[in-house]
Amino acid sequence: KQRVLSGIQPTSDSFHLGNYLGALQYWVTMQDEYDALYFIPDMHAITVSQDPKALRARTKSAAAQLLALGIDPAKSTLFVQSQVPEHAELAWVLSCITGFGEAGRMTQFKDKSVKQGADNATVGLFTYPVLMAADILLYRPHQVPVGEDQRQHLELTRNLAQRFNTRYKKTFVVPEPHIVKGTAKIFDLQDPTSKMSKSAASDAGLINLLDDPKITAKRVRSAVTDTEREIRYDPENKAGVSNLLVILSSLRETPIVDLEANFEGKGYGDLKAEVADALVEFVTPVQKRVQDYLSDQAELDRVLAAGAERAREIAGNTLAQVYDRVGFLAR
Ligand code: TYM
Repeated sequence: KQRVLSGIQPTSDSFHLGNYLGALQYWVTMQDEYDALYFIPDMHAITVSQDPKALRARTKSAAAQLLALGIDPAKSTLFVQSQVPEHAELAWVLSCITGFGEAGRMTQFKDKSVKQGADNATVGLFTYPVLMAADILLYRPHQVPVGEDQRQHLELTRNLAQRFNTRYKKTFVVPEPHIVKGTAKIFDLQDPTSKMSKSAASDAGLINLLDDPKITAKRVRSAVTDTEREIRYDPENKAGVSNLLVILSSLRETPIVDLEANFEGKGYGDLKAEVADALVEFVTPVQKRVQDYLSDQAELDRVLAAGAERAREIAGNTLAQVYDRVGFLAR
């Protein structure tokens, strides 16, 4: 079996629709065909300041959300990054083969450090993509399902894998990003040229999976569209409508052309009503399951402990090879 690995940060109370459509839905389908490892990068989360209590709660909530969305611990290894110390250890080694300029070209760092003010950006935020490369390379996955915004980090990961393999000895699998074109970038409902993100200036265009469904329906009804009337997929000229079509197509598993045909002669209000219905239908049972998983903390801890144990087996093995090849004494 080929291996798949991916991660999602525990940086807010809820995952959003972009996370789900861009990445998490594929995590769920891929666990059937691949040896799947999925994790919650809490060490990435502290690259920006976090309240400790909130971080712990969000890490648990993230695990509960992944289970509620269909990650099955019988099929997938689900774990928390900080419980597998090899991530930080490999990150150090990789940081020593990463160029300063190479790291400096990461656009996400540039964006985030501008937002924070350059003086407030931490070294951790700067080296974040190296830790991400370590997350991936430790497990030698073939596929890494992510959204478009992670492409550059995957490219760095591939470069570091190749560099290590040539400088020392073939050690790492060079992973492929698994980025699905149609859903790789879900847009903000109020500003459909920007990606949906928890750090947008306003929450009005954000669909959180755990929000009250009434709020979700309201946000969809207020989504920005355009001054035409035609329901047509045309991301260049009709960004808002196209985004709604992508969302509906994905949730209803219906091709966009079929939706266009169904909506012929209908208005934007009809499209929004359908999107709102589809979302409410989707999130309602998910929210119920999240509550169930969170109500049994002992079971949640057991799942994560078992996940960390399996992850450490694989990660420890890779790290031992890396340390040996680099020239460290055996421990
Ligand atoms: P994170 O936590 O920001 O996002 C989790 C996943 O959701 C995708 N995503 C989107 N996809 C489509 N449209 C959007 N608007 C949208 N917003 C977010 C992201 O691309 C991602 O796949 N650095 C990673 C976490 C990470 C990781 C890793 C991922 C750490 N180590 C190793 C893979 C492998 C991140 O911050 O994702």
